[in-house]
Amino acid sequence: MYDNWEQLKNDCMNCRKCQLAATRTKLVFGVGNENARVLFIGEGPGANEDLQGEPFVGRGGQLLDKFLAAVDLDRKKNIYIANMVKCRPPQNRDPSPEEQNECIGWLREQTRLLKPKIIVCLGRISATRLISPDFKVTKQHGQFFDKNGTLMMGTFHPAALLRNPNQKPEALEDFIALREKILEICPETYEL
Ligand code: URA
Repeated sequence: MYDNWEQLKNDCMNCRKCQLAATRTKLVFGVGNENARVLFIGEGPGANEDLQGEPFVGRGGQLLDKFLAAVDLDRKKNIYIANMVKCRPPQNRDPSPEEQNECIGWLREQTRLLKPKIIVCLGRISATRLISPDFKVTKQHGQFFDKNGTLMMGTFHPAALLRNPNQKPEALEDFIALREKILEICPETYEL
């Protein structure tokens, strides 16, 4: 258990708990405001993230930034973004359950320090692990679920929206619902 970000980040950056450590260029710890009330959780680093050490910096990331900006959210300002696994799975395959199990402790510690009021799962991998194993993004996106006092919502993964642009309007509705929820339970987000 950690009581500060610096120590947590330092230990995480040296992690070699699973095989992904051997093939990573950079570990992708997370980005954002450490006092944010809203946490976004993706799947795992892709090629660009592995090179730069920051989540969602490729084409999908640019799209994510646009959706965030539409509801006045900004990774440099008022949210935090992390992934289920901190190192890139080769060929962008899904992280295995074992890799997720080894890595989830880091995310738990990040969540403990952040104490978010709202967690947004970007895509199936984080939504099925964190909201419910049978979560269906196409059916349940945009709905809020209370998990021990934290509101959790799943929405489309930005990479999925690049493949299926017809789902963008539904994704935008999710972000608009998110803004409403933020204004209701953690309006201080918009003062950060
Ligand atoms: N996809 C993710 O899920 N996370 C990233 O950081 C980049 C792409």
